[in-house]
Amino acid sequence: MKPVVPPFPNARLRRLRQSPALRAMVRENALSPSDFIWPVFVMEGTDAEEPVASMPGVMRRTVDRIGAAAREAYGLGIPAICVFPYTGMEQRTEDCALAWSPDNIANRAIREIKSAVPEMAVMTDIALDPYNINGHDGFVENGQIINDRTVDALVKMALTQAKCGADILGPSDMMDGRIGAIRAALEAESHQNVTILSYTAKYASAFYGPFRDAVGASSALTGDKNTYQMDPANTDEAMRLVQRDLSEGADMVMVKPGMPYLDIVRRVKTEFGVPTFAYQVSGEYAMMQAAAANGWLDGDAVMMESLMGFKRAGCDGVLTYFAPAAAKLLNG
Ligand code: PBG
Repeated sequence: MKPVVPPFPNARLRRLRQSPALRAMVRENALSPSDFIWPVFVMEGTDAEEPVASMPGVMRRTVDRIGAAAREAYGLGIPAICVFPYTGMEQRTEDCALAWSPDNIANRAIREIKSAVPEMAVMTDIALDPYNINGHDGFVENGQIINDRTVDALVKMALTQAKCGADILGPSDMMDGRIGAIRAALEAESHQNVTILSYTAKYASAFYGPFRDAVGASSALTGDKNTYQMDPANTDEAMRLVQRDLSEGADMVMVKPGMPYLDIVRRVKTEFGVPTFAYQVSGEYAMMQAAAANGWLDGDAVMMESLMGFKRAGCDGVLTYFAPAAAKLLNG
């Protein structure tokens, strides 16, 4: 569609920008708390929380405190929460067995949230990195990531999370074949209503730094994730991944990180027209918070502007650490 713009002065595009009322009438996109999925960090212990140093405003909470936090977020209009576990070095092993234990903190947190706010959608993370001695999302043998054996483990993780009451599974590992394997296992075990929000186009990004800090993986990680996460230079490959994940049974797809990859979001939405999400990752959050803390940026303003960018690019929703703060602003 070609915009019709008659010559000046017939067209004065400023006319419609003159007043808040006129601007509101022609505004193309809107943000709402229902656009947000709130990522949270849980840790061992009781009745405690601690700040994540590299993510000002973000806390790690013990499982017994996560229900109240979820209830508050749901009360603000945020429909979904995504649980990430902090695991210390002593809990990490080569076989990653804790990953599919129903009693690991992530799975306990799912049950805690579902009992505190049953209406809230609970999303999980499926990848071995919080449990792996070397910090990788998959098993490592002789310096190589072992794809298919990793997929078997991811399926066990997925089934445990589904049994604990998860509504949305989030495979974030970027192994090949994991969506199909997880979908088949869910069908076989009568979890046909559990949804999959695939981390489909997940790039090998330096913007994950503060998150690895938050989950205790920074010191664990040996090497990089370039053999499974995407090359930041690619876009066609992202379309192939979306096609592949949808055909294997993903209900929703994600682009990650967010702000540097909004071109990918737009392509996914335009070419596939499926529920499309983006993750405004830890490094994006950290840089805005750091600049705001220095008085270099207006924190609230850049938060809202950045979130609107996701909507404009075509996102149906955004995973963002800003979720509660942005929801509060939107609710006035
Ligand atoms: C782990 C995972 C990562 C993030 C979400 N799940 C980190 C990584 O891949 O190393 C990053 C989230 C963020 O930076 O906010 N599979």
